[in-house]
Amino acid sequence: MSETGTHASEAVAVAAERRWGIIVALIIAALVAMMIFTGVHWASMPPSRVETIDPRTLHISGEFVESNLGTAVEADGKVVVRLVAQQYSFEPQCMLVPAETPVTFRGTSSDVIHGFVIGTTNANVMLIPGYVATFTTTFRKAGEHLMPCHEYCGTAHAAMWARFQVVPQQEFMAKARKGERLTCVPR
Ligand code: CUA
Repeated sequence: MSETGTHASEAVAVAAERRWGIIVALIIAALVAMMIFTGVHWASMPPSRVETIDPRTLHISGEFVESNLGTAVEADGKVVVRLVAQQYSFEPQCMLVPAETPVTFRGTSSDVIHGFVIGTTNANVMLIPGYVATFTTTFRKAGEHLMPCHEYCGTAHAAMWARFQVVPQQEFMAKARKGERLTCVPR
């Protein structure tokens, strides 16, 4: 190959490399922008702090006894949902929360790993025996959702789900009594 031919093919190679460099940089920039958008806009929730609990005594005493499960309005006005997952159901079977209000979830499992997601909201968590999972989220609209278990937990995993009702804030607050736990009747 002549001297000029070598220079020409080198120039073509450099141009092609630069073009691919720009394309790859644009793809990376688009992926980072998507991560920032979904993180900020959908308010993705990082894992909560580690809080342990003995799964063998859940039902006997403490926060997760049956009479304390459901939605509570705490003394400080915060709305807290307490729930327990077990093979193959959630307790309570139907959860009731107010719309447009921050709702804190506190949940755990009494046997194996379960989890749940509420409809198409960003409420999505694993429930691991021995640990209390907590997160806070706000449901914008009133409505009813399905709340399926989303961690394979045994033969009847696919049949494990609860109902989830979001009602207008005023309707919820009218029902809420101090010290009482609210649930709903599955339809
Ligand atoms: Cu519980 Cu799958």
